[in-house]
Amino acid sequence: MQVFYNIHELKLKLAEFAFLDKTIGFVPTMGALHDGHVSLINFSKKQCDITVCSIFVNPTQFNNSEDLAHYPKTPENDILLLTNAGCDFLYMPSVDDIYPTDFHRTFHFGYLETILEGSSRAGHFNGVGQVVSILFDGVKPHKAFFGSKDYQQVMVVKALVKQLNLPIEIVSCPILRESDGLAMSSRNMRLNVQERKVAALIPKLMNEVIGMIELLDIEEAKKWMKHQIENEPLMTLDYFEICDAESLHELKEYDSTVSTVLLIAVFVGKIRLIDNLLIS
Ligand code: PAJ
Repeated sequence: MQVFYNIHELKLKLAEFAFLDKTIGFVPTMGALHDGHVSLINFSKKQCDITVCSIFVNPTQFNNSEDLAHYPKTPENDILLLTNAGCDFLYMPSVDDIYPTDFHRTFHFGYLETILEGSSRAGHFNGVGQVVSILFDGVKPHKAFFGSKDYQQVMVVKALVKQLNLPIEIVSCPILRESDGLAMSSRNMRLNVQERKVAALIPKLMNEVIGMIELLDIEEAKKWMKHQIENEPLMTLDYFEICDAESLHELKEYDSTVSTVLLIAVFVGKIRLIDNLLIS
């Protein structure tokens, strides 16, 4: 795997493959890679001729300076994982390479930026739009692979591609989980032993809600979840919503004919974790 630190060098290299009509798959990440990230590389390798990964902890998408400062960085391990996965090229830019000046593009995603991650993390999706659009400009992929772990992010990136009229297919890939059900996340490595144990409650409780969803009404299910999380001293609920999986509009009542998604954000100690479950 060849590593690039500069977008112009990466562009030159990728132009060789574009000239040969090779398809380029792209997996943008913020590093501290785990098997969830590797699964995206595997999808790309299956569907495209060349796979490019990027590692960049994007400052403009963090609304919490402590979260940014403590975001885990494991570059040697990341390079090892990507090499073993057969990734072709890795782009690891500096902040100056992505944002050469203080001028930043601005994006609006309407309703999508007013709910869930959008309302809890002001400016977050504008920051995601900024970095993803810059990375798409540089890499010019045919397909880009995103995890449905960040359910709302996939919808935002699809909206971005539409707004900019880019010929890029956004592929949504399944959530990889640890053996106790916790969704893999770079932030999990910041949990202490006790927090890590408690964090497994998140998917467990969501599965319990799915088991009850036909019996309870949606408001009762949300109250039940709030109560369960409040009962656990190490956890604080940020949000738990039950939404139409296509539009992310909150559902008032469960309808088995409507594709439904449960979305949750929980602080475990100081670490904020998100997860979701789709009921198809
Ligand atoms: P990051 O959190 O590093 O995630 C990179 C990609 O990996 C995202 O598409 C995310 O949804 C996916 N991913 C994370 N955990 C996963 C899991 N358990 N199973 C499957 N996929 C998983 O998301 C970002 O970075 C950034 O916002 C980024 C898109 C790179 C823009 O800065």
